Amino acid sequence: MSSQIDHLFSETRRFAPSSDFASAAVGSAELYERADADREAFWAEQARDLHWHTPFTKVLDWSNPPFATWFEDGELNVAYNCLDRHVEAGHGDRVALLWEGEPGDQRRVTYAELTDEVKRLANVLSDLGVSAGDRVAIYMPMIPEAVAAMLAVARIGAIHSVIFGGFSADSLRSRIDDAGAKLVITSDGGYRKGRVSPLKPAVDQALGDRGHGPQETVEHVLVVKRTENEVSWTDGRDVWWHDVVPAASADHEAQPFPAENPLFILYTSGTTGKPKGILHTSGGYLTQAAFTNKVVHDLHPETDVFWCTADIGWITGHSYVTYGPLANGVTQVLYEGTPDSPHPGRWWEIVEKYGVTILYTAPTAIRSFMKLGRAIPEKFDLSSLRLLGSVGEPINPEAWVWYRHVIGGDRTPIVDTWWQTETGAIMVSALPGVTETKPGSAQVPLPGIGVDVVDDSGQEVGNGGGGLLVLTKPWPSMLRGIWGDPERFKETYWDKFEQQGYYFAGDGARLDEDGDVWFLGRVDDVMNVSGHRLSTTEIESALVGNEAVAEAAVVGASDETTGQAVVAFVIIKQSFLDQHSPEGLADTLRKWVGEQIGPIARPRDVYIVGELPKTRSGKIMRRLLRDVAEGREVGDTTTLADTAVMSVISAQVK
Ligand code: WT7
Repeated sequence: MSSQIDHLFSETRRFAPSSDFASAAVGSAELYERADADREAFWAEQARDLHWHTPFTKVLDWSNPPFATWFEDGELNVAYNCLDRHVEAGHGDRVALLWEGEPGDQRRVTYAELTDEVKRLANVLSDLGVSAGDRVAIYMPMIPEAVAAMLAVARIGAIHSVIFGGFSADSLRSRIDDAGAKLVITSDGGYRKGRVSPLKPAVDQALGDRGHGPQETVEHVLVVKRTENEVSWTDGRDVWWHDVVPAASADHEAQPFPAENPLFILYTSGTTGKPKGILHTSGGYLTQAAFTNKVVHDLHPETDVFWCTADIGWITGHSYVTYGPLANGVTQVLYEGTPDSPHPGRWWEIVEKYGVTILYTAPTAIRSFMKLGRAIPEKFDLSSLRLLGSVGEPINPEAWVWYRHVIGGDRTPIVDTWWQTETGAIMVSALPGVTETKPGSAQVPLPGIGVDVVDDSGQEVGNGGGGLLVLTKPWPSMLRGIWGDPERFKETYWDKFEQQGYYFAGDGARLDEDGDVWFLGRVDDVMNVSGHRLSTTEIESALVGNEAVAEAAVVGASDETTGQAVVAFVIIKQSFLDQHSPEGLADTLRKWVGEQIGPIARPRDVYIVGELPKTRSGKIMRRLLRDVAEGREVGDTTTLADTAVMSVISAQVK
């Protein structure tokens, strides 16, 4: 780590905004001044860009920390803000979604058409017995219906829980159960890597195994037909989208809901085995998602074509595919498939074809394009691009510079945006046209956001120092809690710096001499693989759930393409070895984890070892395993109960 950090701090390249970009930019230095002068008035002003059925008179209530309310006495309808108001303002013919399926099929959906679809679907949801406060699980590919589903749930004041289509039936089941979902919206499947990736069978499996007992909360499954694959059908429970949505009335008046009405739950990995249901509410969330999208991505809705490549199963897809762009009334690209299907230039072909002006993606994608070489993007006309964004993990300066040079033609500013599922929207980023950018640094808190780097006791480290990143002030799109677990909410984020009242983000960071923030990765047992959060403990418990495994330890090892990769060390049960050959077992276990959690959690390497390094109190020293996984000399072993164990493990891994 330390050589990596030294390397980062020798980075001296700087990119000042061009005067052309600066003169037309949405953001300005004045935003910081206004926010500094009166933070709450600043956020109230941003919130007033939305349509409020009942205007708010209160801004922030922080009298009962860590439970905040924002704009509490105001009422709004989130879907109305993303749809109807643009149509009413005369922009109904503007394209909302430029959708491209992986096989190459296309649909253009205007704001008027999307509004119509969402109204019909809202009526269908009500007919299916869903009302305000009910939970709806969404397990879908990247098709326009997925965006419509989120908005229709929001429109009737219900709460969505989107589950990434790459998650397994088991993961789906635990999320459906934790939220007590009444309805599941899914599709027969979607296209990925040139094949149909089925979804409905996982829903059947998640719901089927336990029958319709008293525990069962799901009453219906609404199914979009996207592919030609066969699906099994449960009469009375399952409903085809095409049977009910087109036939439903397109009259649906959006009702106002309180600003603090829950909007969605989104599960993310924490340091324990059980994913946390992060809860977001309406007014504050939409305010910050829309504002950040506008100023960080410099949106000009009349002319821009925005493309955020994230799946709606992640927070980036919630805030910068569904809510931010639609609240701003911009035209955006929605792409169903993978970057390399059917050919490795697929993304650049889409940029050229639709004239994408703003591209927002993850460092892992940039690094894999870098590996394939510049000849591929160079075959396409990328001159429409005028701004590039990065999100999900630290972007190394080499990837940053390649992104600007090869994709951005040395013209485009790059914004490296730091935030989390919990923060709901971007917190730390340059403002394009305002900030002089530095490759590798996420740079500065946005206007109205309080960020600091502190030591373990909460003292600020000051410029040049390293420590833990904290958020010092409540913000509009902050999580309001963990679904069903207020204690865990306090414990995870607020107990560590209770005295100071700071939010603990779980990230290590450094401030450089200018006070710019450099993120250094997680400080807890959370890994970041391709910009996705995974818990070491969750993967360990999946591994010990296999009949062959006695013990398991998982670490995130640095990986050239994915940032980190999952590496597992497992001890096999003697009783299993008495009956079976260990041949092929590592592969079986890799697959097993993929089935239990989802393909993203599948370990890159599984090492079968005889022992794990433990302290005298029995705690596994993952630091030493990480040394082995990254092929480094093993560090200090003096606190191990058995100091010889590491040389045995190193030998077994070779
Ligand atoms: C964790 C949050 C935010 C949407 C995608 C991930 C890491 C995120 C950056 C960045 C350095 C970053 C942090 C954070 N992270 N963006 N620009 N630079 N690190 O959301 O799954 O909730 O993960 O991703 O470690 O804590 P998430």
